Amino acid sequence: MDGASIDGRNERLGRALLLFGGSGQVGRQLRLALAPFGTVIAPTRAEADLTDPDSLRATIERVRPLVIVNAAAMTNVDQAERDPALANAVNAVAPRVMAEEARRVGALVVHYSTDYVFDGGIRVPYDEEAQPNPINGYGRSKLAGERGVANVDVPHLIIRTSWVYSVTGAGFVASLLRDLPGKAIVKIVADQVGSPTWSRSLAIATAALVRAAVRADEIVLNSADWGVYHLGGSGEGSRVEIAEAVIDALGARLVGERPRIDPISAAAFGALAPRPHYSALSNLRANKRFGITLEPWRAELHRMVTEEYS
Ligand SMILES: NC(=O)c1ccc[n+]([C@@H]2O[C@H](COP(=O)([O-])OP(=O)(O)OC[C@H]3O[C@@H](n4cnc5c(N)ncnc54)[C@H](OP(=O)(O)O)[C@@H]3O)[C@@H](O)[C@H]2O)c1
Repeated sequence: MDGASIDGRNERLGRALLLFGGSGQVGRQLRLALAPFGTVIAPTRAEADLTDPDSLRATIERVRPLVIVNAAAMTNVDQAERDPALANAVNAVAPRVMAEEARRVGALVVHYSTDYVFDGGIRVPYDEEAQPNPINGYGRSKLAGERGVANVDVPHLIIRTSWVYSVTGAGFVASLLRDLPGKAIVKIVADQVGSPTWSRSLAIATAALVRAAVRADEIVLNSADWGVYHLGGSGEGSRVEIAEAVIDALGARLVGERPRIDPISAAAFGALAPRPHYSALSNLRANKRFGITLEPWRAELHRMVTEEYS
């Protein structure tokens, strides 16, 4: 399918796509989802460190891409609390530098942000009109990154996502998949609710946005369509509900008794950085404007375990 979509339309772009963070859980899926557009160049951290604006600028100048996708970030929320300067360099300064360079070379910027820009003070899914008010250093650095991109006069899509999971890595679901087998009881935080998002579906939805925004050698995204889009798995779930769903999906692959969940509070868990108690996302704008939806998270999680866990 190199260079062609299912409907046969040639999707190949005349210039490359430049992907930062290609080794991360979203980035690995983006390498696959963006492949039909042609050349995807994904520099490693050693080749383009986001803490080094000069190296970033040089990389963008060398590639002169049509699309810059930034899936690189300092995502360790507690580490961001300990080291706000590093979080600011990676999550706030680097995206602004990318946007400035994108403007110079005529590229679209696709940048990821987070549900953690919200404070969790409500109990209905946040849409794009909701007012951010981050309660930790990670959220503050990501919100500054959003604003750094949006303040440059450049075509941009800022994709806020939430509770991303994949089969491997350090995330909540991957840790459950590693830890649950053989456990009789697991302590899980009960008072945090979000929208679990499969990295593969997020990458596919991102490719759909890119498809709507560029054609051949041209960016066709109307300036009215620049800005923030929420892309989280449909629906909401607490960490306890997610753990139950993982146990259900593992089913017969769990030998012995079904592990019992011992619900605890986030306060008792005692993470360094505070997290919002509620941060589910409503994908209102992507759906309304581009007809993009993500499937209900339980079905997605089940599919991921069935297809990718061995
Ligand atoms: N994970 C979630 O639950 C979640 C939730 C909401 C939003 N998001 C957002 O979604 C995006 C993708 O997240 P993810 O889960 O894929 O992250 P991830 O798995 O932690 O991957 C982070 C990526 O960033 C790269 N990176 C980190 N610091 C760098 C630096 N100084 N220079 C160059 N590259 C650097 C990493 O490279 P190395 O391999 O070299 O470390 C890796 O490729 C991020 O913007 C994140 O804020 C994630």
